[in-house]
Amino acid sequence: MSSSDEYGTAEGPGAQGADAAEAAYGADRLVGPEAESDESALEAALRPKELSEFIGQSKVREQLDLVLKAARQRQGTADHVLLSGAPGLGKTTLSMIIAAEMGAPIRITSGPAIQHAGDLAAILSSLQEGEILFLDEIHRMSRPAEEMLYMAMEDFRVDVIVGKGPGATAIPLELPPFTLVGATTRAGLLPPPLRDRFGFTAHMEFYEPAELELVVHRSARLLDVRTDAAGASEIAGRSRGTPRIANRLLRRVRDYAQVKGDGVIDRETASRALGVYEVDERGLDRLDRAVLGALVKLFGGGPVGLSTLAVAVGEERETVEEVAEPFLVREGLLARTPRGRVATPAAWDHLGLARPQSQQPPHPSSAPGQQGLFGE
Ligand SMILES: Nc1ncnc2c1ncn2[C@@H]1O[C@H](COP(=O)(O)OP(=O)(O)OP(=O)(O)O)[C@@H](O)[C@H]1O
Ligand SMILES: [Mg+2]
Repeated sequence: MSSSDEYGTAEGPGAQGADAAEAAYGADRLVGPEAESDESALEAALRPKELSEFIGQSKVREQLDLVLKAARQRQGTADHVLLSGAPGLGKTTLSMIIAAEMGAPIRITSGPAIQHAGDLAAILSSLQEGEILFLDEIHRMSRPAEEMLYMAMEDFRVDVIVGKGPGATAIPLELPPFTLVGATTRAGLLPPPLRDRFGFTAHMEFYEPAELELVVHRSARLLDVRTDAAGASEIAGRSRGTPRIANRLLRRVRDYAQVKGDGVIDRETASRALGVYEVDERGLDRLDRAVLGALVKLFGGGPVGLSTLAVAVGEERETVEEVAEPFLVREGLLARTPRGRVATPAAWDHLGLARPQSQQPPHPSSAPGQQGLFGE
């Protein structure tokens, strides 16, 4: 779970806050994990089509492979699958792979698109036997639709309500067996009864640099760009563990290589190109570095309150909290404490600054002990 969940700041009514802050800072943020508005066609072209082509997530791949093979052997439909993980890790891609592996058609919809239970009933009742129903952002579905889905998932049946008020009647409707594939970036927001109805849940993790390197090589091949190992590794290292970002950085580096070089992507080209776009070796962009720089240089590493930090970098509170901080926390560069934001020793290292005395590794004999109990 991300640290913003831990602090409860992005829960409940604020659940859409991250989207809003991301939009306010600029949907074109090069290292933003969400898809840009014009990116879907580009992404579709780079999507692996089979499970064996899908890079990384080896546990998920192995488990899913078993689920699908078993279903095929039984000549039945696969269990309902829940895919949970951060944006850009491959949930939509996997849903399409599931359909391809099952040789089944796929129907695509999303939580926000289903306003009323009737919308869902219409979709469910038109499914063919064995069809895959992909429900993206399943945590954003309305409550009545969610309740209808419970029964549909469990008994392949829905009750369609006809009429209103005391005269309303429920007409039961049998559904053909289908496989629901739900995707969510916020598994914590799913009500337990819904979560429990999935036979298989895949938790997608951030990718290792070596895996992203393979993603870059694969995409480069499809885009017909020559990339050497060092060039791919340079891009992978700046991609924040996210294939979507790796593909996006690759496209920017390709442009640079084409305009300023000989079209071939090597380490030098990748590093210069991403320098132009202000994405550093670790994948931090201008905003991330501004936040970290202010914390370290203006506030001695903190603790400092979020509002003060936001004013110092000239951004909204939400932008700092929801756009910049999650990655800084994940990278262990910044910590959120009850007294405010604190830079970790790694922050000084990353900014190329000498750590202040207080951030030097503690002497063994002066490790914090009882003192901490009275210190606050
Ligand atoms: N394992 C992978 N191997 C190769 N490419 C991948 C992999 N995972 C994702 N990608 C690429 O990353 C891009 C984004 O993937 P996808 O759209 O499936 O992410 P997502 O998890 O559905 O994101 P969102 O939460 O925003 O919907 C796609 O272009 C896809 O080709
Ligand atoms: Mg998706």
